[in-house]
Amino acid sequence: MKLVYLDNNATTPLHPEVLEEMLPFFKEDFGNPSSLHQFGRKIRVKVDEAREKVAKMIGADPLEIVFTGGGSESDNFAIKGVASANKDKGRHIITSEIEHHAVLNTCKYLEKNGYQVTYIPVDEYGVVNPEDVAGAISEDTILITIHHSNNEIGTIQPIKEIAKIAQERGIIFHTDAVQSLGKVPLNVEDIGVNLLSISAHKLNGPKGVGACYIRKGTKRLHPLINGGNQEMKRRAGTENVAGIIGFSKACELASTFMEEERGRLISLRDKLQNALTEKISHVKLNGHPTKRLPTTLNMSFEYVEGETLMINLDLEGIAVSTGSACSSGSLEPSHVLVAMGIPHEIVHGSLRFSLGRENTEEDIDRILEVLPPVVEKVRAMSPLWED
Ligand SMILES: Cc1ncc(COP(=O)(O)O)c(C=O)c1O
Repeated sequence: MKLVYLDNNATTPLHPEVLEEMLPFFKEDFGNPSSLHQFGRKIRVKVDEAREKVAKMIGADPLEIVFTGGGSESDNFAIKGVASANKDKGRHIITSEIEHHAVLNTCKYLEKNGYQVTYIPVDEYGVVNPEDVAGAISEDTILITIHHSNNEIGTIQPIKEIAKIAQERGIIFHTDAVQSLGKVPLNVEDIGVNLLSISAHKLNGPKGVGACYIRKGTKRLHPLINGGNQEMKRRAGTENVAGIIGFSKACELASTFMEEERGRLISLRDKLQNALTEKISHVKLNGHPTKRLPTTLNMSFEYVEGETLMINLDLEGIAVSTGSACSSGSLEPSHVLVAMGIPHEIVHGSLRFSLGRENTEEDIDRILEVLPPVVEKVRAMSPLWED
């Protein structure tokens, strides 16, 4: 049975060229980039080159890139770093109700430690209204953190408008762009952002490495990890050299193929969406119909449990998810879909299909062959289903 992987928003397979690029750093190129001898100097040059490539990918200066241990660390660093450095200035933070838990739980942690957080609601498509953000600003606001795109539904936020509001009021603006990198154009100058989080494993790079972009002049930010002078004293610890090299190669590859891939993935995604809507009754798209990541399709199937569908698909070798990877396995309904005002029973029938570089038309055809009879079988067992 050919396995079909449609959970690329959870993580992506490592690109073979990325692995190739990383291998020497597990073998002969083992030096510590902080060492002054030739073993170290050679690696320092490589890490600096990698920094240039990652910076180029988002239109930043290499000195504005701090490598981290992934998206969650970048989010924690940006949010806690600003909160800690600005606590005498103010203690109010604005975010949205549908952020990733890396942002939401960091905000909740700060709430327990003397900060106030406003969670901006979203509309039925999962879009934050910039006017709501403007309306929530107070004298005490030190940070606005709104994600670039959502991992569960793929909705892309009006990030430039929100950044402009923050800029006009002199408030630091952070965006979690973990799901957007390599999928849609991302340029820090164009957005007008102070801080931005990215992660390598969402674009066919290695796990456990990411970066935080810090705009030049954003001084008010405390480090999350104290220690040595690495990463311009912003993030201590010997660098994950192989990971950083892999991350930079993944960026290079993604920027080369992004335009071509974008068109291809949108057509696969839309084929899946249209055919599922045609073949199965009582289905609904969750997320914005157009302002959406090319990779993401989230649909609700009424009168069935998403978990039951997922398990049935898994038995057929098809991997999808029911919401974010972090919350699957729990019976908590997705906070994203709930915030969009979707009734609980429909939230529970949701599935996320997330596409990536490896997916083909054949994969889509395979789901279209398997899913409709599975839905029919499961519905036939439901006491609520009468058709
Ligand atoms: C929007 C978003 N932010 C943050 C993260 C966390 O990134 P990482 O897995 O690199 O810690 C994820 C991962 O799913 C994500 O989708």
